[in-house]
Amino acid sequence: MGVLEDKSRARLFYKYLSKVYDRINPFVWNEAMRDEALGMLDFDPDDAVLDVGCGTGFGTEGLLQHVDTVTGLDQSAHQLEKAYAKFGRAGPVRFTRGDAERLPYRDDTFDVVWSSGSIEYWPNPVQALREIRRVAKPGGQVLVVGPDAPRSTVFRRLADAIMLFYDEAEADRMFHEAGFDEIEHTIQQSRPGSPRAITTVAKVPGDDESTADSTAHSQPAD
Ligand SMILES: C[S@@+](CC[C@H](N)C(=O)[O-])C[C@H]1O[C@@H](n2cnc3c(N)ncnc32)[C@H](O)[C@@H]1O
Repeated sequence: MGVLEDKSRARLFYKYLSKVYDRINPFVWNEAMRDEALGMLDFDPDDAVLDVGCGTGFGTEGLLQHVDTVTGLDQSAHQLEKAYAKFGRAGPVRFTRGDAERLPYRDDTFDVVWSSGSIEYWPNPVQALREIRRVAKPGGQVLVVGPDAPRSTVFRRLADAIMLFYDEAEADRMFHEAGFDEIEHTIQQSRPGSPRAITTVAKVPGDDESTADSTAHSQPAD
């Protein structure tokens, strides 16, 4: 397990990173990638949307282009302070400080659950994905962005020592274990040679939905 896959270490890390997060984030996760990911979901303006690990609100800002209000959750008070400065404390975003692995929401609350760039810090990602499934409505949509595993063994070892990096097979395993059965992965990248993100869209199993197992994969052109 990587050194930052520990909640208190990740909080300490973001105490300092929050000061520069919005300046360095675009090197690995930029507006074009966020908008491509948003295009993988269907929204109604009045959908109930949760952003897990919302941080300073970069993903939240994109979600607000599609829906009227967003619920944002993050475990870092320092990241949330930056988000409050952008959206206010009582604006279109209802913020909560909390843990992805113990979501403080009732079952079947959200039409869409989004999480960009946070899963790599969760010590038990399957537990958090189970929580996401629990709070999402049957038939709802879940989108999770995380870091795609480096192909080189040396870089993979280095990356794994820091946090969770995963490939499509591992994403399939985690989402299946958490109870999802319609899963699609897309590899996203800002430009050739830059870090790749793996973006997974999963449908929340519903009473009247087909439970047929279907997994799809797509890659960028290069
Ligand atoms: C790379 S930032 C991503 C922020 C934002 N989602 C974005 O797209 O820019 C990762 C965020 O995940 C949060 N985080 C890490 N572990 C968490 C946990 N267990 N529960 C809730 N938030 C967590 C961190 O505090 C941090 O703000």
